[in-house]
Amino acid sequence: MEQYVIKGGNPLVGEVEIGGAKNAALPILAASVMTDDTVYVDNVPDVRDINVMLDTMASLGVMIKHENRHRIILNSANITEYVADNENIKKIRASYYLIGAMLAKYKSAEVTLPGGCDIGCRAIDQHIKGFRALGAEVRIEHGRIKAKAERLRGAHIYMDKVSVGATINVMLAASMAEGLTIIENCAKEPHVVDVANFLSSMGANIRGAGTDVIRIKGVPSLHGSDYTIIPDQIEAGTFMFAAAITHGDVMVKNIIPKHLESISAKLTEIGCEIEEADDCVRVVASKQLRSTQVKTLPYPGFPTDMQPQITVALALAKGTSIVTESIFENRFKYVDELICMGANISVEGNTAIIDGGARFTGANIAAPDLRAGAALVLAALASDGVSVVDDIRYVQRGYEDFHIKLQELGAQIELAESERDISKFRLKTG
Ligand code: UD1
Repeated sequence: MEQYVIKGGNPLVGEVEIGGAKNAALPILAASVMTDDTVYVDNVPDVRDINVMLDTMASLGVMIKHENRHRIILNSANITEYVADNENIKKIRASYYLIGAMLAKYKSAEVTLPGGCDIGCRAIDQHIKGFRALGAEVRIEHGRIKAKAERLRGAHIYMDKVSVGATINVMLAASMAEGLTIIENCAKEPHVVDVANFLSSMGANIRGAGTDVIRIKGVPSLHGSDYTIIPDQIEAGTFMFAAAITHGDVMVKNIIPKHLESISAKLTEIGCEIEEADDCVRVVASKQLRSTQVKTLPYPGFPTDMQPQITVALALAKGTSIVTESIFENRFKYVDELICMGANISVEGNTAIIDGGARFTGANIAAPDLRAGAALVLAALASDGVSVVDDIRYVQRGYEDFHIKLQELGAQIELAESERDISKFRLKTG
């Protein structure tokens, strides 16, 4: 089992290139089954969740070729199966996008219920409500969601909860429904807009993505496309916080600054200097970090996927901070690991009260989920001594070459597969 072994203390300095957005790529790849034509998708990150999605699609009969590491060619003309049930599919939550996509094209889909990060109850009632409103019969049986329709008809759908997944999934199904669909109380995340842009590039008629109300006029068929995925907001944000936490100076390249506004604003508030250009942002952390208050919210609010990273920064900052998690109910599990490293944090319900100014020391810790895993790596980079991070498969779900990108910024981090590797690292780093 691979681990990261990390010696903290080096400020991260240099440039890092951000890859394509995982959470846009997953539904875009799924949506490629909605046409018989060939689809080219560029800037696809090479991470585990994407590879699970591609394996699942291959098992449905989708022809998949890698033109290079990040450019994928897909052809779904010969899909033989509408049942997605390979052994890995449960590991990714985004498998549910195959329901919206296959329901749209084939009016039939069956997908094993999703897994994903264990960060609290993750209902799919809004997805199901949307599919039913479009005329599908949806049942959950034997751990699978089964959706079927004679025909899909446009409908007026009000989402009871702002959900990225439900907004995208219902948008997929509605793209090929008869007539007009209006979805209200939509998620506005950049990846919702990216999926809408991709569907439009295939001939769908979608207006309003990025606002609260999306209007979709269904079309009978979609055609091929050549599409480039947007940069990953959360990967970018993670490296921005890596600069802050290690008192470094990092140029984060290939990003869309607009998507990072809430993150840049908080970094400025806690004492970092931010310089923005067209497609990059530089974070300089030369001063002692300061405390703040933050509440996670749907876009354009501060992302829940950045909550563990800011908590690590605030544990080191001067003063008392409060972090409130308003999206998921169980997203502070990593705090116990941070306490082992020296943080002073108490969690009450969905709020973490952080008594800042901690000095972290290296420890043996485990990643409880994807983003918390990344945040613990950042904490280790700011610690005295050596840390070993277990369960890094979670981190690898969503970060491509994480340790290599960190090494290129001067971090002392390596992959270790055995005690021997860890001892060698300790000897090498003194
Ligand atoms: C997506 C992201 C995840 C991110 C989250 C919020 C992917 C693959 N994952 O997850 O990284 O943390 O957005 O930005 O894109 N909910 C319901 N009923 C539903 C659907 C959701 O009650 O039918 C609730 C959830 O339990 C949660 C909240 O709505 O409390 C937000 O969930 P949602 O936006 O759907 O998150 P995901 O799409 O699962």
